[in-house]
Amino acid sequence: MYRLVDHFGVYEAPTLYMENVKIDGKWMKGPVISNHYGHWDTKCLVFGMNPVAGDHYATYYKTMARVEQILEKGVFPEQPYAEVTAARAPVKEVILRGDQIDLGSFPFLWSNPGDSGRYVNSGSVHTEDVELGKNFGTYRCEIKGPRMLGISPEPNQSGWKMFMKKKERGDQVAQVAIVLGQDPIMWVVSSSKLARGKTDEYRMVSAIRGKPIELVKCETLDMLIPAHAEMVIEGEVPLDQAMKPEGPFGERYGYMGQKKDENFWMNVNCVTHRRNPWIVNIYAGVTRGFPTAPLEQLSLSTMQRFVPNARMIHSPVEATGLTIVSFKK
Ligand SMILES: Cc1cc2nc3c(=O)[nH]c(=O)nc-3n(C[C@H](O)[C@H](O)[C@H](O)COP(=O)(O)O)c2cc1C
Repeated sequence: MYRLVDHFGVYEAPTLYMENVKIDGKWMKGPVISNHYGHWDTKCLVFGMNPVAGDHYATYYKTMARVEQILEKGVFPEQPYAEVTAARAPVKEVILRGDQIDLGSFPFLWSNPGDSGRYVNSGSVHTEDVELGKNFGTYRCEIKGPRMLGISPEPNQSGWKMFMKKKERGDQVAQVAIVLGQDPIMWVVSSSKLARGKTDEYRMVSAIRGKPIELVKCETLDMLIPAHAEMVIEGEVPLDQAMKPEGPFGERYGYMGQKKDENFWMNVNCVTHRRNPWIVNIYAGVTRGFPTAPLEQLSLSTMQRFVPNARMIHSPVEATGLTIVSFKK
């Protein structure tokens, strides 16, 4: 992946589909998918549209126009989701409980040479709280044992606030479900502040997708997760026990995130997955993390309310805090 990005650039490097991968000297069955949000063309593809062949500007503008159509008065609308039974949920094709679970037996990768180990790094981490509501967010999860994962929401992320609130209240555990291989729109919402504090992000995902997202109950938790995901990891974060060290881990823009001395961790009680699940690996710091057009169009629409001659906006992934805007002068 490093070589492909060096050779083709971040926006042109192809998606990798790896049928088998070798981990610790042993071959493991994939497939592992990487960089499927990197190429310009995927901007269109995640909205079910064809890219404009060979013209990445046109592809980008087409996606932005689609997102503009979805926005209602400059905000993303909401619509109800649907609940289905386990029999209609591919994510329940295989159910593993207790000692049947070995996270190391799935092809989760050691992505960057400086990382502390193998990570589940493409999960939407679901948490719920009686006061704070529901949330899912993308937080990296270090594999610490066959049934143990680190969970890394940074301070003040929604997941972190929920864990801290429960700790203050004296709760002993926080329930967590990690969804892998989710709808790309869910991945955008999970990886960004697009929902701006809304407590039912699935309603927004359904509206952007244009149809109700199908959800199903977890096996061991009172939570709803997408029926069509590839895998769900269910478990509990102990809040009355010592935290554990985590990292370092390669971050966006090619820097190493430093090792944390104290980090939340989770006991895994159940894993459900499709037969032959696809594992998505994010090479953090090397490839683009998620499709950004929904965020960019939201910013553009907001800006156009007070700068009506703003025409187009783009935040390049190679630099943090840089946004380029074009105006009709
Ligand atoms: C690939 C990827 C990995 C990320 N890893 C983390 C992480 O480990 N911890 C974190 O706090 N945010 C991480 N983020 C950013 C959050 O997902 C983002 O800030 C999101 O808004 C968090 O959800 P929340 O707003 O519901 O807390 C990551 C984003 C991406 C795309």
